[in-house]
Amino acid sequence: MKNDHWDATQYVEHASFVAKLGSPVLSLLDPVAGESILDLGCGDGTLTLKLSEMGVDVVGVDFSKSMVDAAKASGLSAEVCSGDKLAYDQVFDAVFSNAALHWMTDYQAVIAGVHHSLKAGGRFVAEMGGAGNIAGLLDAMKKVFDSDTSLGEFVNPWFFPDAALYKDALETGGFDVEYIELISRPTPLSSGVIQWLKTFANAICKNLDDRQKDRFYNDVSRMLKPVYYTDENGWVADYVRLRFKARKKS
Ligand code: BEZ
Repeated sequence: MKNDHWDATQYVEHASFVAKLGSPVLSLLDPVAGESILDLGCGDGTLTLKLSEMGVDVVGVDFSKSMVDAAKASGLSAEVCSGDKLAYDQVFDAVFSNAALHWMTDYQAVIAGVHHSLKAGGRFVAEMGGAGNIAGLLDAMKKVFDSDTSLGEFVNPWFFPDAALYKDALETGGFDVEYIELISRPTPLSSGVIQWLKTFANAICKNLDDRQKDRFYNDVSRMLKPVYYTDENGWVADYVRLRFKARKKS
């Protein structure tokens, strides 16, 4: 798929913390064996597999073919689909999503597709980057782009809403919001900030050549070190989560 910058092998190696930190949103989902659940933005399928092992009839969708292939290799049912183009018709008891909705900037289309995918009374339970998420990284990345016009213009590929905005969008989209909260969750980057950039900032670097990319990684790392790094804790990023549970109106 165009703009698919993901490499599942690299993701498994350097981003396993994403699924490991998914326990609170899984608890909020509170899945029941036999339920039919869509995992929206399933990535390599780590949490999809967990749901499957709990007896859930789960389907994963992801924008990236590399990720969907990895999920299928774990024996999961998964398909390539853009989150703003869901085409299911009232088949799921719940739609679940962890650390994926912030990539889906057309959020009204995403919410409409989720609504259409759910049975009446079905729940939409998710966690995503929220307002203020990775503010330090965004600031440093923009400053590096601004300092060198040959890199082009910095374009933020992510959507980090606050609770009021997303609650309003869910209500407008036909949901009752039972819970929504913005949560500060400082997150250790055990592979370091350069590896974080190589794993997650491919969309930002897509027009840079290899030399420019290396300079970008090193400059961002140097700029962030006083903010994100301590000898005691290593690299820790200022993650902020928006976590919610909403129910499709019957
Ligand atoms: C996040 O989970 O907050 C996130 C991950 C990668 C890029 C941007 C945000």
